[in-house]
Amino acid sequence: MTSFELNQPLRKPRRLIVTGGAGFIGANVVHYWCQKYPGDRVVVLDALTYAGNRQTLAVLDDHPNFRFVKGDICDRPVIDALLHEEAIDTLVHFAAESHVDRSILGPDAFVRTNVVGSFTLLEAFRQHWQSADRPADYRFHHVSTDEVYGSLSHDDPAFTETTPYTPNSPYSASKAGSDHLVRAYHHTYGMPTTITNCSNNYGQYHFPEKLIPLMCINILMGKPLPVYGDGQNIRDWLYVGDHCSAIDAVLHSGTVGETYNVGGNNEVKNIDLVHMLCDLMNELAPDLPVRPAQELITYVKDRPGHDRRYAINSTKLQTELGWTPSVTVQQGLRLTVEWFLANEDWWKPLLSEEYQAYYRKVYA
Ligand code: NAD
Ligand code: DAU
Repeated sequence: MTSFELNQPLRKPRRLIVTGGAGFIGANVVHYWCQKYPGDRVVVLDALTYAGNRQTLAVLDDHPNFRFVKGDICDRPVIDALLHEEAIDTLVHFAAESHVDRSILGPDAFVRTNVVGSFTLLEAFRQHWQSADRPADYRFHHVSTDEVYGSLSHDDPAFTETTPYTPNSPYSASKAGSDHLVRAYHHTYGMPTTITNCSNNYGQYHFPEKLIPLMCINILMGKPLPVYGDGQNIRDWLYVGDHCSAIDAVLHSGTVGETYNVGGNNEVKNIDLVHMLCDLMNELAPDLPVRPAQELITYVKDRPGHDRRYAINSTKLQTELGWTPSVTVQQGLRLTVEWFLANEDWWKPLLSEEYQAYYRKVYA
């Protein structure tokens, strides 16, 4: 479901490497791309950390232009070999440690993957691009977050591309570091880079540690729904399918050296969002252990340094590249709840011992 239709009569097939393509957004983009552009080569490079799931991509194994490589973005020889042997022209960089609560428990992995890993990719791509005589149509696209802009109070205007960076968590600070490196590689070397800074995504293949899948699964299992602090924090929710079309728009018609904000125009307080999920589950799930699901809502200790509000102004992407979000939060949450109800086989195996141990640490 997308409102983005780009007319590309002269478009030639691309050869993409997608880092983090076995994670939530990366996998959605890989599915989108293989379906929409079957003539493009799509090579996924993913280390399969706890957040990566090979099963999410299994259906593509018969696709002639798809290849999966298990590997780390800090491993320079692996990246060099792939860029060369696959004659890559486009690198789309999703791989990251992505969860704020985990960055509070252990920031080391965030600096390693998000900063050092991004730097390793930039250096490898720079050498690859320079040895091909600096083609202008090569792209290094970096996928980042609105969290680099910090936290808004109730009346502040939404983040624009020129809002100063004020990251507040180890996660957002590490993403800010990678954004600065990407920007510097364009400014210093002229490397053809683009960046997108996106708001909170949700939808299919979302790992259960994040708010929406966690609430869906806890409702289905009759477990408490842990709402941090007073539940009044606001996020700007974007259906993941709309993020896929935004990446498509930027890869095909974005201007090199530019940053584009991506957001859903769907600001919702956490507690209201949880109520919306409870209502949908009460309506759509036949055998809830606790009904109405609202009885499970439990206020818990707040996340340290918890950002109050995010809101994205995506006017630049809309006016310059013609992208618009096509799904409201009401529509997107319904699609998401339906997906989690229909895909227990996907999410049940993720509730592993490692996940339970993580859960106990955060929610004890
Ligand atoms: P995710 O945690 O679901 O997936 C991350 C993927 O990266 C996993 O498949 C994991 O195995 C892989 N990975 C981690 N470390 C790696 C390494 N060292 N080498 C290779 N692969 C590695 O993340 P997501 O939610 O899909 O987010 C993807 C990107 O989008 C991230 O860069 C994130 O910062 C950004 N982003 C996410 C959101 C959101 O709401 N989820 C919003 C804006 C931006
Ligand atoms: O804004 C973009 C960011 O959105 C991405 O860069 C991150 O990768 C992604 O994880 C997400 O970050 P958040 O911290 O906003 O998402 P999370 O789902 O963890 O939390 C959403 C809100 O819900 C936040 O205010 C914290 C709150 N929350 C979260 C969890 C997991 C709860 O109240 N209870 C919970 O159990």
